[in-house]
Amino acid sequence: MKSILENRPELTARIGDVAEVAGYLWQKGWAERNGGNITINITDCIDDAIRTLPPLSEPVAIGMTLPHLKGCYFFCKGTNRRMRDLARHPMDNGSVIRILDDCTSYVIVADNPVRPTSELPSHLAMHDQMIASGNGYTAAIHTHPIDLVAMTHNPMFLHKDVLTNLLWSMIPETRAFCPKGLGIVPYEMPSSLDLAQATIEALKEYDVVMWEKHGVCAVGKDVMEAFDQIDVLSKSAQIYLTAKSMGFTPTGTTQEQMDQLKQAFNL
Ligand code: 13P
Ligand code: ZN
Repeated sequence: MKSILENRPELTARIGDVAEVAGYLWQKGWAERNGGNITINITDCIDDAIRTLPPLSEPVAIGMTLPHLKGCYFFCKGTNRRMRDLARHPMDNGSVIRILDDCTSYVIVADNPVRPTSELPSHLAMHDQMIASGNGYTAAIHTHPIDLVAMTHNPMFLHKDVLTNLLWSMIPETRAFCPKGLGIVPYEMPSSLDLAQATIEALKEYDVVMWEKHGVCAVGKDVMEAFDQIDVLSKSAQIYLTAKSMGFTPTGTTQEQMDQLKQAFNL
């Protein structure tokens, strides 16, 4: 069967970026087995030939109504598919879905009838909110970084912005490149609608949120930007735990130094 990537350089490049980031997640040790998922909004890459493709599935209910996603197309990691396999063969381990006009269900349209990630409610709720806000974001990543997840096992770090300020204070880049900080979503059942709801609530204020004792969720203009934010936060967590393992608590930059950075970089 012909791939929809044939003769579509822009779509090929976007899915190539997803594959590249999937490889990073695996290399980082954040993506055990099928852990984590990525979705990107590819609606602007869709032409009439794709629009008229016969669906590869019956309509599947999402479990929620997403009014801004009518007719939108997404590339999604497949459920139970490995990130490291998505990196090598994105079209065999992911699927393109179209949201139906009822805004409550989707069909798989290409390349293979791979069922999308079990975290689809959270991902689609995030995309719906991003479109509603007009922020131009097109990508959502969920992954399981060891350091950041470990920190959510300490109740002290679950209070609002405690983790944000600690991680910002470890290295100036984190303050600069994750300017909204890190939100906390209290533990919810993986793939549940409650998790989706809590995630979009927290994303009104942040671009990256922790799912307590599970993982991190980041949104961005594209998949690289979403990845970068998780990467800088994880770097800070690594600095914190390296200092701790050397037997001391890191001093951290001062509030004044962070404020100067905020001013200098217009954050
Ligand atoms: P999927 O394989 O369904 O994408 O699930 C992975 C995961 O991390 C669930 O939270
Ligand atoms: Zn997960």
